[in-house]
Amino acid sequence: MTQDELKQAVAQAAADYVATNVPEGSIVGVGTGSTANFFIDALAPLKHRFKGAVASSEATRKRLEGHGIAVLDLNEVDTIPVYVDGADEIDAGLNMIKGGGGALTREKIVAAVAQTFVCICDASKLVNVMGTFPLPVEVIPMARAHVARELQKLGGTPVLREGFVTDNGNLILDVRGLSITDPKGLEAQINQITGVVTNGLFAIRPANVLLLGTPEGVRRLP
Ligand code: A5P
Repeated sequence: MTQDELKQAVAQAAADYVATNVPEGSIVGVGTGSTANFFIDALAPLKHRFKGAVASSEATRKRLEGHGIAVLDLNEVDTIPVYVDGADEIDAGLNMIKGGGGALTREKIVAAVAQTFVCICDASKLVNVMGTFPLPVEVIPMARAHVARELQKLGGTPVLREGFVTDNGNLILDVRGLSITDPKGLEAQINQITGVVTNGLFAIRPANVLLLGTPEGVRRLP
């Protein structure tokens, strides 16, 4: 199976999860990225079953609307039963690195509101220790150099994502070389640096369910 076929299989499994677990008339939270795009396509035939979606990026909003799915402002929504999104890396504790597509802040906000976070990944994303994938950090533009210096003090090598501006008008530093043995602690520590909007570690609020696409089929954890 190709990587795209694995992504499609987990996306379909997530749509089945939504159909089974989300009460009719609810709101679905929708992530960003290539796997999330397959999920949006798999969700489209079910659109009559839910009230609408909350999008974690402008790209996702456009794709949802392209399928005729209503996109709601998060501020109009009290509760999101399920948020479905991909990850760049995930460990056995369902901690994740996200933000390869640069949507980490909105993803983290929607995830904070969601009751259940369903992560959908192909098998290549499951790792023992996170950190091979560079950790994205969203920064306020005037704080870029300051935040980069502070990240270096933590042992990281930050590189500005060239030519990229987030949906929130900010910049991304991609940080290599961090030793992520304490994902929760590092997430909190980086978020304390003045000028950081948020970082791509999702450990304080990890996923609740992982649907993993493998050549043998979709595995569910736990
Ligand atoms: C977007 O900002 C990211 O968090 C994505 O969810 C993550 O990068 C996974 O993307 P793919 O499904 O394209 O690998």
